[in-house]
Amino acid sequence: MVKFSYYGHACFLLDDGKYKVLADPFLTGNPAASIKAEDVECDYILVTHAHGDHIGDAAAIAARTGAEVVGIPEVLGLCEGTSGNFKGHGMNIGGSLTLPFGKVRMVFAQHSSGVPGGIACGYVIYIGGLVIYFAGDTALFSDMELIGKKDNIDFALLPIGDNYTMGLEDAAMATKLLGTRHVIPIHYDTWPVIQQDVKHFKEITESLSRASVHIVKPGEDLELELCDAKA
Ligand code: NI
Ligand code: MN
Repeated sequence: MVKFSYYGHACFLLDDGKYKVLADPFLTGNPAASIKAEDVECDYILVTHAHGDHIGDAAAIAARTGAEVVGIPEVLGLCEGTSGNFKGHGMNIGGSLTLPFGKVRMVFAQHSSGVPGGIACGYVIYIGGLVIYFAGDTALFSDMELIGKKDNIDFALLPIGDNYTMGLEDAAMATKLLGTRHVIPIHYDTWPVIQQDVKHFKEITESLSRASVHIVKPGEDLELELCDAKA
């Protein structure tokens, strides 16, 4: 079993009981944050791109906790420029990294990177017997079908806020392309510009695909299980 803790916007923690994997830790200045950057504990930090609402507190949390930061080299370079000492692991699209809890594969995202020479990415995370796709910030793209075919995704964490990323309808289509059984919407309601009717997203996604949509609010947890996840 893997515990998903939603910290608001695109920041979440996966905990398999032994290892904690934090993603896109934008907490300082995040109006939806449910935890302070100083209070987060983790072993690994996955960063999708260098926009402030994703790279956020990565360097500071890594320096404090000793967590290893995974990202595109250009994005890690920006972390190094912002604060202190931390362990970084650079990788790139299509590459996999084996870690003590399982592995991560870096995949495409259609979005700008926030740093010259970099590109934005998503991750497929293998942890606790589950395959979890974290799309990062992205538009809808047809290769999501390829990601789903290759990785047999159990849970997809998809942005639905529109304006900067996919909106409701494109995220519903993404769910169908991915073939995932479960979706958790993220990256919405943080600011007025990405305010969304998440219940409408659940309705259209569940009518368009075979997936169940789990609405998790910032500060809430969801136990990820294959057959009977509830939220
Ligand atoms: Ni972005
Ligand atoms: Mn964003």
